[in-house]
Amino acid sequence: VGHIDDVQELRKTKPTTIPERFVRDVTERPTTLDTTTTTLSSLHSDIPIIDLSKLVNGNPDEIQCEIVNLTTACQEWGFFQVVNHGIDLSLIEGIEKVAKDFFMLPKEEKQKYPMAPGTIQGYGQAFIFSENQKLDWCNMFALGIVPDFIRRPELWPSKPADFCETLESYSREVRKLCQNLLKYIAVSVGLKEDVFEEMFGVAVQAVRMNYYPPCSRPDLVMGLSPHSDGSAITVLQQDKGSYVGLQILKDNTWVSVQPIPNALLINIGDSMEVLTNGKYKSVEHRAVTHKEKDRLSIVTFYAPSYEIEMGPMPELVDENNPCKYKKYNHGEYSKHYVTNKLRGKKNLDFAK
Ligand code: SIN
Ligand code: FE2
Repeated sequence: VGHIDDVQELRKTKPTTIPERFVRDVTERPTTLDTTTTTLSSLHSDIPIIDLSKLVNGNPDEIQCEIVNLTTACQEWGFFQVVNHGIDLSLIEGIEKVAKDFFMLPKEEKQKYPMAPGTIQGYGQAFIFSENQKLDWCNMFALGIVPDFIRRPELWPSKPADFCETLESYSREVRKLCQNLLKYIAVSVGLKEDVFEEMFGVAVQAVRMNYYPPCSRPDLVMGLSPHSDGSAITVLQQDKGSYVGLQILKDNTWVSVQPIPNALLINIGDSMEVLTNGKYKSVEHRAVTHKEKDRLSIVTFYAPSYEIEMGPMPELVDENNPCKYKKYNHGEYSKHYVTNKLRGKKNLDFAK
């Protein structure tokens, strides 16, 4: 454990077979693979679309209508795409470019920023805790952004030259988006718009860039193991020009999520599931690979401050909705999350 199982390097050696550590047990292999097309197919369900500009600037009817859409999206999908999100296209494209440029650097350069075993910042593979655990076909680069004390400046890369500056600007904008979304999510469950902002303290924000090189046998491997996020909400930016790699578990079936160009995908994390007393649920998702194409995703996690005592919002608990989760400290939950492998929704058992 601890050394980087770098799939980009592995691929360069043109192996004739997939190393055993990446080959999934038969029951864990991707069943629905869309390896041939990047256009809409029957596999792609229609993830709800939320127009943020209607929530921010709409007339009362438009706002009401979009809040209803948001409620449905969070309740039935746990995922939605947000359009007119207010983040400049230059930043969306900029972060994609610097992330890709980083992954394309020689491994010696990237390995100056190693992810230490059991941690989740730097370059490498997170969530690996045993020699016989299967590995994901993915290279990751992750950094803590806010608050300052989670930052590891020595892991912020000097190449590409505009990486840090771009990440700072992108993160500032994504943070505003998260704060906005939390307001409307609060309203959508009947709470005052500022409740989450008030209770979260200085919300924790972290980013993870996932790079999936092509894989000669996408039917045998997993790009990213099934999991739910530990965050309150997650903002996911998908590689526009690539194949459809993200799948979510909907009604017990894995369905692919077709990215809308320049939209951002939002999903409900475990923390929001707890806060809403299960009204909104964190949804399991995973990433699959492609025979010829690579794929990049840029994921921002937004979560309560570590000292926060978590549990369902009292307003959402009554005789008809008994309390489904115990009280716990968010920092302890976060630690629990990052010291376990990705394993569906099992980390949330911590709150039961
Ligand atoms: C993630 O869940 O962290 C990323 C999934 C993806 O690559 O789309
Ligand atoms: Fe995720």
